[in-house]
Amino acid sequence: MRLAVFNQKGGVGKTTTALNLAAALAARGLAPLLVDLDSQAHLTGILCGSIDSASDSLFAFYNEGRPLRELSRRVALAGGGRGEVVPGHAELMKVDSLFGKGPRILYRLKEGLDAGQDDASRPAFIDCCPMLGVLSLSGIFAADRVLVPISADFLAVRGALALENTLKALEHVLKRRVERRYVLTRFDSRRGMAHRIEAQLRERFGEELARTRIAETVGLAESPFHGKDVHAYAPGSRGAQDYDALLEELLATGFFEV
Ligand SMILES: Nc1ncnc2c1ncn2[C@@H]1O[C@H](COP(=O)(O)OP(=O)(O)OP(=O)(O)O)[C@@H](O)[C@H]1O
Ligand SMILES: [Mg+2]
Repeated sequence: MRLAVFNQKGGVGKTTTALNLAAALAARGLAPLLVDLDSQAHLTGILCGSIDSASDSLFAFYNEGRPLRELSRRVALAGGGRGEVVPGHAELMKVDSLFGKGPRILYRLKEGLDAGQDDASRPAFIDCCPMLGVLSLSGIFAADRVLVPISADFLAVRGALALENTLKALEHVLKRRVERRYVLTRFDSRRGMAHRIEAQLRERFGEELARTRIAETVGLAESPFHGKDVHAYAPGSRGAQDYDALLEELLATGFFEV
């Protein structure tokens, strides 16, 4: 199953969530695929360092028709685990202007993933960029479900409502409901505001808001600087536990299947 991790708001924990859910799966012996759909290429930077040539990145899939299988790289996750990454690159910013916004480009990633995925049940996470452009849309089109990290801060609720409208509008195009889960990230339980935001989101989204909250922790903030997911950097830390719990919840509720 494929999950797109999307929120048009920046810095809410999309990359952190895609990376650490993948790591939580790798810790269970699975080998997830990560797709870096962001021209900022943060996920790629963490796991692969910088990718010099755009021809070695997801951009080459769009621009040169190279199969995703050829572009993906093996990476270490969660200490002894493994996964694969299709790297992002700054050139991805050009996809909109080069290939337009028509259905062909919007379904391209889905087709590429369908074609390259020998095992349809292989878990995959698509790390979207903080904009609702062609790339993020193609990530949502390629995914079975959408996970929306919401950071527990000012304007979080307003952003979540805007995003819900966006997803509703997309359902007309996709002709299916976009199954989604919202998850609170960067949660500081000492702040009253964080609890108020949670209460508002719970009232609005009910069971679509995950019960698991991801706390703001040093381990999650520091691990990217060491080129690692939190399971590899600080095994057993609060951040690792929170992402394990989130994965557990997504599996137990049937939102995510592996
Ligand atoms: N729970 C957390 N605790 C501490 N730091 C966090 C947490 N979640 C994310 N961060 C940090 O916050 C910053 C933004 O997180 P991240 O890059 O995951 O957000 P994003 O939504 O992917 O951002 P963008 O929209 O730019 O792609 C990063 O430096 C990350 O390490
Ligand atoms: Mg990101």
